[in-house]
Amino acid sequence: MAFVVTPWEVSGEIDYKRLVKEFGTQELDAKLLKRLEKHTGELHHLIRRKVFFSHRDLDWFLKEYEKGNKGFLYTGRGPSGKTHLGHMIPWILTKWLAEKLKLKLYFQMTDDEKFLFKEGLSLEEATNYALENALDIIALGFTPEQLRIIIDTKMSGVMYPEAIKIAKRLTFSTTKAVFGFDNSTNVGSIFYTCMQAVPAFLPSIAAKKKLPCLIPLAIDQDPHFRVTRDIIQKVGYPKPAILHARFLPGLQSAEGKMSTTDGDPDTQVIWTTDDPKTVKKKINKYAFSGGKDTVEEHRKKGGNPDIDVAYQYLTFFEEDDKKLEQYYKDYKAGKLLSGELKTILIDKLNVCLSNHQKKREAARKNLKKYLATPEEFS
Ligand code: TYM
Repeated sequence: MAFVVTPWEVSGEIDYKRLVKEFGTQELDAKLLKRLEKHTGELHHLIRRKVFFSHRDLDWFLKEYEKGNKGFLYTGRGPSGKTHLGHMIPWILTKWLAEKLKLKLYFQMTDDEKFLFKEGLSLEEATNYALENALDIIALGFTPEQLRIIIDTKMSGVMYPEAIKIAKRLTFSTTKAVFGFDNSTNVGSIFYTCMQAVPAFLPSIAAKKKLPCLIPLAIDQDPHFRVTRDIIQKVGYPKPAILHARFLPGLQSAEGKMSTTDGDPDTQVIWTTDDPKTVKKKINKYAFSGGKDTVEEHRKKGGNPDIDVAYQYLTFFEEDDKKLEQYYKDYKAGKLLSGELKTILIDKLNVCLSNHQKKREAARKNLKKYLATPEEFS
Protein backbone atom coordinates (compact mmCIF):
# COMPACT_ATOMS: atom_id res chain seq x y z
CA MET A 1 0.00 0.00 0.00
CA ALA A 2 1.32 3.45 -0.90
CA PHE A 3 1.57 6.05 1.83
CA VAL A 4 3.15 9.46 2.18
CA VAL A 5 4.75 10.93 5.34
CA THR A 6 6.28 14.39 5.03
CA PRO A 7 6.07 17.45 7.31
CA TRP A 8 3.22 18.72 5.09
CA GLU A 9 1.38 15.62 4.03
CA VAL A 10 0.46 12.36 5.73
CA SER A 11 -1.76 10.04 3.73
CA GLY A 12 -2.45 6.38 3.02
CA GLU A 13 -2.09 3.41 5.31
CA ILE A 14 1.12 4.07 7.20
CA ASP A 15 3.46 1.14 7.65
CA TYR A 16 5.62 2.25 10.58
CA LYS A 17 8.07 -0.63 10.22
CA ARG A 18 8.67 0.37 6.62
CA LEU A 19 9.11 4.01 7.65
CA VAL A 20 11.91 2.99 10.01
CA LYS A 21 13.68 1.40 7.03
CA GLU A 22 12.93 4.20 4.58
CA PHE A 23 13.90 7.01 6.96
CA GLY A 24 16.91 5.04 8.25
CA THR A 25 15.92 5.30 11.91
CA GLN A 26 16.12 2.67 14.63
CA GLU A 27 13.33 0.86 16.44
CA LEU A 28 13.26 1.42 20.20
CA ASP A 29 14.38 -1.94 21.56
CA ALA A 30 14.00 -3.48 25.02
CA LYS A 31 17.67 -2.95 25.92
CA LEU A 32 17.57 0.77 25.22
CA LEU A 33 14.27 1.18 27.05
CA LYS A 34 15.76 -0.56 30.11
CA ARG A 35 18.61 1.92 30.01
CA LEU A 36 16.15 4.84 29.86
CA GLU A 37 14.13 3.31 32.70
CA LYS A 38 17.23 3.25 34.88
CA HIS A 39 17.09 7.04 34.87
CA THR A 40 13.34 7.63 34.77
CA GLY A 41 12.35 4.93 37.29
CA GLU A 42 9.44 3.79 35.09
CA LEU A 43 8.35 3.92 31.48
CA HIS A 44 5.59 6.25 30.35
CA HIS A 45 2.56 4.47 28.87
CA LEU A 46 3.21 6.17 25.50
CA ILE A 47 6.56 4.34 25.48
CA ARG A 48 5.25 1.06 26.93
CA ARG A 49 2.60 0.96 24.19
CA LYS A 50 5.06 1.79 21.44
CA VAL A 51 3.41 5.08 20.50
CA PHE A 52 7.03 6.20 20.62
CA PHE A 53 8.50 3.46 18.50
CA SER A 54 11.68 4.72 16.90
CA HIS A 55 14.73 6.92 17.53
CA ARG A 56 18.00 8.31 16.29
CA ASP A 57 20.97 8.23 18.69
CA LEU A 58 18.98 7.94 21.94
CA ASP A 59 21.78 5.61 23.12
CA TRP A 60 24.32 8.40 22.57
CA PHE A 61 22.13 10.92 24.40
CA LEU A 62 21.84 8.57 27.39
CA LYS A 63 25.56 7.85 27.34
CA GLU A 64 26.30 11.57 27.57
CA TYR A 65 23.67 11.89 30.31
CA GLU A 66 25.37 9.11 32.25
CA LYS A 67 28.72 10.87 31.88
CA GLY A 68 27.16 13.97 33.46
CA ASN A 69 26.87 15.85 30.17
CA LYS A 70 23.18 16.63 30.64
CA GLY A 71 21.71 18.17 27.55
CA PHE A 72 18.35 19.69 26.82
CA LEU A 73 15.02 18.86 25.15
CA TYR A 74 13.73 20.59 22.05
CA THR A 75 10.37 20.36 20.32
CA GLY A 76 7.89 22.72 18.67
CA ARG A 77 4.71 23.73 16.93
CA GLY A 78 3.82 25.31 13.61
CA PRO A 79 1.10 27.72 14.75
CA SER A 80 -1.41 27.59 11.92
CA GLY A 81 -4.52 27.24 14.07
CA LYS A 82 -5.73 25.90 17.40
CA THR A 83 -3.97 22.99 19.15
CA HIS A 84 -5.56 19.55 18.73
CA LEU A 85 -5.06 16.37 20.74
CA GLY A 86 -2.58 14.97 18.20
CA HIS A 87 -0.17 17.86 18.82
CA MET A 88 -0.25 17.12 22.52
CA ILE A 89 1.17 13.60 22.13
CA PRO A 90 4.85 14.54 21.68
CA TRP A 91 4.45 17.33 24.24
CA ILE A 92 3.05 15.01 26.92
CA LEU A 93 6.07 12.73 26.58
CA THR A 94 8.42 15.72 26.46
CA LYS A 95 7.03 16.99 29.76
CA TRP A 96 7.51 13.56 31.32
CA LEU A 97 11.13 13.40 30.08
CA ALA A 98 11.81 16.95 31.33
CA GLU A 99 10.57 16.00 34.76
CA LYS A 100 12.20 12.59 35.04
CA LEU A 101 15.56 13.55 33.56
CA LYS A 102 15.50 17.11 34.95
CA LEU A 103 16.10 18.71 31.60
CA LYS A 104 15.15 22.12 30.26
CA LEU A 105 12.86 22.38 27.22
CA TYR A 106 13.30 24.77 24.31
CA PHE A 107 10.04 25.01 22.41
CA GLN A 108 10.01 26.58 18.94
CA MET A 109 6.94 28.36 17.54
CA THR A 110 7.41 28.57 13.79
CA ASP A 111 5.11 31.42 12.83
CA ASP A 112 7.44 32.05 9.86
CA GLU A 113 6.95 28.46 8.61
CA LYS A 114 3.17 28.56 8.74
CA PHE A 115 3.04 31.99 7.09
CA LEU A 116 5.25 30.68 4.27
CA PHE A 117 3.44 27.38 3.75
CA LYS A 118 -0.19 28.08 4.44
CA GLU A 119 -2.25 29.82 1.80
CA GLY A 120 -4.36 32.62 3.25
CA LEU A 121 -2.67 32.80 6.67
CA SER A 122 -1.20 36.21 7.48
CA LEU A 123 1.99 36.54 9.50
CA GLU A 124 0.09 38.39 12.21
CA GLU A 125 -2.42 35.53 12.50
CA ALA A 126 0.37 32.95 12.74
CA THR A 127 2.12 34.93 15.49
CA ASN A 128 -1.17 35.23 17.39
CA TYR A 129 -1.71 31.49 17.14
CA ALA A 130 1.83 31.00 18.51
CA LEU A 131 0.83 32.89 21.66
CA GLU A 132 -2.45 30.96 21.93
CA ASN A 133 -0.78 27.55 21.33
CA ALA A 134 1.90 28.42 23.91
CA LEU A 135 -0.79 28.14 26.61
CA ASP A 136 -1.15 24.43 25.78
CA ILE A 137 2.50 23.62 26.37
CA ILE A 138 2.70 25.77 29.52
CA ALA A 139 -0.45 24.05 30.86
CA LEU A 140 1.47 20.78 31.06
CA GLY A 141 3.11 22.16 34.18
CA PHE A 142 6.44 23.75 33.33
CA THR A 143 7.99 26.64 35.25
CA PRO A 144 9.44 29.54 33.21
CA GLU A 145 12.95 28.30 34.08
CA GLN A 146 12.17 24.84 32.67
CA LEU A 147 10.47 26.02 29.47
CA ARG A 148 11.70 28.65 27.03
CA ILE A 149 9.45 29.39 24.08
CA ILE A 150 11.18 30.67 20.96
CA ILE A 151 8.86 32.50 18.55
CA ASP A 152 10.82 32.63 15.30
CA THR A 153 9.87 36.12 14.14
CA LYS A 154 10.47 37.54 17.62
CA MET A 155 13.87 35.91 17.92
CA SER A 156 15.08 36.41 14.36
CA GLY A 157 18.01 38.62 15.38
CA VAL A 158 19.48 35.68 17.29
CA MET A 159 18.34 32.94 14.94
CA TYR A 160 19.15 34.35 11.52
CA PRO A 161 22.97 34.39 11.89
CA GLU A 162 22.80 30.72 12.92
CA ALA A 163 20.26 29.68 10.28
CA ILE A 164 22.45 30.99 7.45
CA LYS A 165 25.30 28.78 8.65
CA ILE A 166 23.04 25.81 7.94
CA ALA A 167 21.67 27.40 4.76
CA LYS A 168 25.16 27.79 3.26
CA ARG A 169 25.56 23.99 3.34
CA LEU A 170 22.06 23.02 2.25
CA THR A 171 21.43 22.84 -1.48
CA PHE A 172 18.19 23.31 -3.38
CA SER A 173 18.69 19.86 -4.82
CA THR A 174 18.69 18.29 -1.31
CA THR A 175 15.51 20.13 -0.33
CA LYS A 176 13.90 18.99 -3.60
CA ALA A 177 14.81 15.37 -2.91
CA VAL A 178 13.77 15.41 0.76
CA PHE A 179 10.67 17.61 0.65
CA GLY A 180 9.51 17.32 -2.96
CA PHE A 181 9.99 21.04 -3.68
CA ASP A 182 10.11 22.23 -7.28
CA ASN A 183 10.80 25.44 -9.18
CA SER A 184 7.42 26.86 -8.22
CA THR A 185 8.09 26.57 -4.45
CA ASN A 186 8.51 29.96 -2.77
CA VAL A 187 12.09 30.62 -1.66
CA GLY A 188 11.09 31.14 1.97
CA SER A 189 9.82 27.56 2.15
CA ILE A 190 13.06 26.26 0.63
CA PHE A 191 15.05 28.09 3.34
CA TYR A 192 12.73 27.21 6.22
CA THR A 193 14.40 23.96 7.44
CA CYS A 194 17.41 26.08 8.41
CA MET A 195 15.23 27.85 11.01
CA GLN A 196 13.95 24.57 12.44
CA ALA A 197 17.58 23.42 12.79
CA VAL A 198 18.65 26.34 14.98
CA PRO A 199 17.15 25.43 18.40
CA ALA A 200 19.03 22.11 18.18
CA PHE A 201 22.26 24.06 18.85
CA LEU A 202 21.24 27.54 20.07
CA PRO A 203 21.45 26.51 23.78
CA SER A 204 24.99 25.26 23.13
CA ILE A 205 25.97 28.71 21.92
CA ALA A 206 24.63 30.32 25.08
CA ALA A 207 26.29 27.67 27.30
CA LYS A 208 29.55 27.94 25.33
CA LYS A 209 29.75 24.15 25.27
CA LYS A 210 28.41 21.37 23.07
CA LEU A 211 25.21 20.23 24.74
CA PRO A 212 23.42 17.03 23.69
CA CYS A 213 19.92 17.68 22.35
CA LEU A 214 16.95 15.27 22.34
CA ILE A 215 13.91 16.03 20.15
CA PRO A 216 10.62 14.20 20.76
CA LEU A 217 8.27 14.57 17.77
CA ALA A 218 5.89 12.63 15.56
CA ILE A 219 7.70 11.04 12.64
CA ASP A 220 6.37 13.52 10.04
CA GLN A 221 8.88 16.09 11.34
CA ASP A 222 11.87 13.76 10.99
CA PRO A 223 12.92 14.91 7.48
CA HIS A 224 13.87 18.37 8.82
CA PHE A 225 16.23 16.75 11.26
CA ARG A 226 17.61 14.21 8.81
CA VAL A 227 18.81 17.22 6.82
CA THR A 228 19.97 19.04 9.98
CA ARG A 229 21.91 16.03 11.24
CA ASP A 230 23.83 15.84 7.95
CA ILE A 231 25.02 19.43 8.33
CA ILE A 232 25.16 20.35 12.02
CA GLN A 233 28.57 18.84 12.78
CA LYS A 234 30.09 20.97 10.04
CA VAL A 235 28.77 23.97 11.96
CA GLY A 236 30.45 22.65 15.12
CA TYR A 237 27.67 21.00 17.11
CA PRO A 238 26.62 17.38 17.82
CA LYS A 239 23.81 15.71 15.89
CA PRO A 240 20.57 15.93 17.88
CA ALA A 241 18.99 12.68 19.07
CA ILE A 242 15.37 12.10 18.07
CA LEU A 243 12.43 10.15 19.53
CA HIS A 244 9.67 9.38 17.02
CA ALA A 245 5.97 8.93 17.76
CA ARG A 246 3.33 7.44 15.53
CA PHE A 247 0.22 9.52 14.93
CA LEU A 248 -2.95 9.92 16.91
CA PRO A 249 -5.49 9.17 14.17
CA GLY A 250 -8.28 11.51 13.07
CA LEU A 251 -11.85 10.78 14.19
CA GLN A 252 -12.98 9.06 11.03
CA SER A 253 -10.35 6.36 10.63
CA ALA A 254 -7.92 4.53 12.91
CA GLU A 255 -5.33 4.95 10.12
CA GLY A 256 -3.43 8.15 9.42
CA LYS A 257 -2.98 11.34 11.37
CA MET A 258 -5.27 13.70 13.25
CA SER A 259 -4.91 16.77 11.09
CA THR A 260 -6.85 19.78 9.87
CA THR A 261 -5.92 19.46 6.21
CA ASP A 262 -8.72 17.18 4.98
CA GLY A 263 -12.24 18.59 4.86
CA ASP A 264 -14.02 20.16 7.83
CA PRO A 265 -11.62 19.89 10.81
CA ASP A 266 -14.52 19.67 13.27
CA THR A 267 -15.36 16.24 11.87
CA GLN A 268 -11.73 15.07 12.22
CA VAL A 269 -10.13 16.60 15.28
CA ILE A 270 -10.71 17.34 18.95
CA TRP A 271 -9.33 20.73 19.98
CA THR A 272 -7.81 21.18 23.43
CA THR A 273 -10.44 23.90 23.96
CA ASP A 274 -13.50 21.76 23.12
CA ASP A 275 -16.14 21.70 25.86
CA PRO A 276 -17.60 18.41 27.20
CA LYS A 277 -20.72 18.60 25.04
CA THR A 278 -18.69 19.10 21.87
CA VAL A 279 -16.34 16.21 22.72
CA LYS A 280 -19.35 13.97 23.32
CA LYS A 281 -20.98 15.00 20.07
CA LYS A 282 -17.83 14.61 17.97
CA ILE A 283 -17.02 11.15 19.32
CA ASN A 284 -20.55 9.83 19.15
CA LYS A 285 -21.12 11.21 15.68
CA TYR A 286 -17.77 10.87 13.93
CA ALA A 287 -15.47 8.38 15.70
CA PHE A 288 -15.12 5.35 13.43
CA SER A 289 -16.45 2.25 15.13
CA GLY A 290 -15.05 -1.26 14.95
CA GLY A 291 -18.37 -2.56 16.26
CA LYS A 292 -20.87 -4.69 14.38
CA ASP A 293 -23.97 -3.32 12.66
CA THR A 294 -26.49 -4.61 15.21
CA VAL A 295 -26.31 -5.20 18.96
CA GLU A 296 -27.18 -8.90 18.42
CA GLU A 297 -24.37 -9.40 15.94
CA HIS A 298 -21.93 -7.46 18.14
CA ARG A 299 -22.82 -9.56 21.19
CA LYS A 300 -22.35 -12.72 19.12
CA LYS A 301 -19.23 -11.92 17.09
CA GLY A 302 -17.60 -9.08 19.08
CA GLY A 303 -16.03 -5.85 17.83
CA ASN A 304 -12.62 -5.06 16.39
CA PRO A 305 -10.65 -2.74 18.72
CA ASP A 306 -7.75 -2.50 16.25
CA ILE A 307 -9.79 -0.38 13.85
CA ASP A 308 -11.98 1.29 16.47
CA VAL A 309 -11.07 4.94 16.95
CA ALA A 310 -12.44 5.13 20.51
CA TYR A 311 -10.28 2.18 21.55
CA GLN A 312 -7.26 3.58 19.72
CA TYR A 313 -7.64 6.92 21.53
CA LEU A 314 -7.80 5.10 24.86
CA THR A 315 -4.40 3.56 24.08
CA PHE A 316 -3.05 7.14 24.04
CA PHE A 317 -5.02 8.58 26.98
CA GLU A 318 -5.86 5.76 29.44
CA GLU A 319 -2.74 5.36 31.58
CA ASP A 320 -3.94 2.22 33.37
CA ASP A 321 -2.75 -0.90 31.50
CA LYS A 322 -5.21 -3.18 33.30
CA LYS A 323 -8.25 -1.09 32.40
CA LEU A 324 -7.12 -0.89 28.80
CA GLU A 325 -6.62 -4.63 28.57
CA GLN A 326 -10.09 -5.22 30.00
CA TYR A 327 -11.66 -2.88 27.42
CA TYR A 328 -9.85 -4.75 24.67
CA LYS A 329 -11.02 -8.16 25.85
CA ASP A 330 -14.60 -7.08 26.56
CA TYR A 331 -14.95 -5.29 23.24
CA LYS A 332 -13.57 -8.24 21.31
CA ALA A 333 -15.85 -10.61 23.21
CA GLY A 334 -18.92 -8.49 22.46
CA LYS A 335 -19.50 -7.71 26.15
CA LEU A 336 -18.76 -4.04 25.61
CA LEU A 337 -20.78 -2.23 22.94
CA SER A 338 -19.41 0.46 20.66
CA GLY A 339 -21.54 3.15 22.33
CA GLU A 340 -20.33 2.06 25.76
CA LEU A 341 -16.71 2.19 24.68
CA LYS A 342 -17.31 5.68 23.28
CA THR A 343 -18.80 6.78 26.60
CA ILE A 344 -15.69 5.51 28.44
CA LEU A 345 -13.52 7.57 26.08
CA ILE A 346 -15.75 10.67 26.34
CA ASP A 347 -15.59 10.58 30.15
CA LYS A 348 -11.82 10.05 30.11
CA LEU A 349 -11.13 12.87 27.66
CA ASN A 350 -13.48 15.29 29.38
CA VAL A 351 -11.70 14.81 32.70
CA CYS A 352 -8.29 15.34 31.02
CA LEU A 353 -9.52 18.34 29.03
CA SER A 354 -11.27 20.14 31.87
CA ASN A 355 -8.09 19.86 33.94
CA HIS A 356 -6.02 21.04 30.95
CA GLN A 357 -8.35 23.94 30.18
CA LYS A 358 -8.14 25.27 33.75
CA LYS A 359 -4.34 25.23 33.62
CA ARG A 360 -4.39 26.68 30.11
CA GLU A 361 -6.42 29.71 31.23
CA ALA A 362 -4.25 30.15 34.33
CA ALA A 363 -1.19 30.20 32.03
CA ARG A 364 -2.48 33.29 30.20
CA LYS A 365 -1.36 35.77 32.84
CA ASN A 366 2.13 34.24 33.03
CA LEU A 367 2.70 33.77 29.31
CA LYS A 368 5.29 36.52 28.95
CA LYS A 369 7.58 34.89 31.50
CA TYR A 370 7.97 31.86 29.22
CA LEU A 371 8.87 33.73 26.05
CA ALA A 372 12.58 33.58 25.28
CA THR A 373 14.35 36.89 24.77
CA PRO A 374 17.44 37.58 22.63
CA GLU A 375 19.43 38.49 25.78
CA GLU A 376 19.20 34.87 27.01
CA PHE A 377 21.31 33.76 24.08
CA SER A 378 23.88 36.54 23.98
P1 TYM B 1 3.09 20.80 13.88
O1 TYM B 1 2.52 22.06 14.42
O2 TYM B 1 2.57 20.27 12.61
O3 TYM B 1 2.94 19.68 14.97
C1 TYM B 1 3.39 19.84 16.31
C2 TYM B 1 3.88 18.50 16.84
O4 TYM B 1 2.79 17.59 16.85
C3 TYM B 1 3.11 16.42 16.10
N1 TYM B 1 1.85 15.94 15.54
C4 TYM B 1 1.25 14.80 15.93
N2 TYM B 1 1.63 13.86 16.80
C5 TYM B 1 0.82 12.80 16.98
N3 TYM B 1 -0.35 12.65 16.31
C6 TYM B 1 -0.79 13.58 15.43
N4 TYM B 1 -1.94 13.43 14.81
C7 TYM B 1 0.04 14.72 15.21
N5 TYM B 1 -0.06 15.83 14.42
C8 TYM B 1 1.05 16.56 14.64
C9 TYM B 1 4.17 16.87 15.10
O5 TYM B 1 4.97 15.82 14.67
C10 TYM B 1 4.94 17.86 15.96
O6 TYM B 1 5.88 17.19 16.76
N6 TYM B 1 7.47 22.36 11.87
C11 TYM B 1 6.82 21.88 13.09
C12 TYM B 1 7.10 22.79 14.29
C13 TYM B 1 8.46 22.53 14.90
C14 TYM B 1 8.87 21.30 15.51
C15 TYM B 1 10.23 21.53 15.93
C16 TYM B 1 8.24 20.09 15.73
C17 TYM B 1 9.49 23.39 14.97
N7 TYM B 1 10.57 22.81 15.59
C18 TYM B 1 10.92 20.52 16.57
C19 TYM B 1 8.93 19.08 16.38
C20 TYM B 1 10.27 19.30 16.79
C21 TYM B 1 5.31 21.77 12.88
O7 TYM B 1 4.75 22.39 12.01
O8 TYM B 1 4.67 20.95 13.80
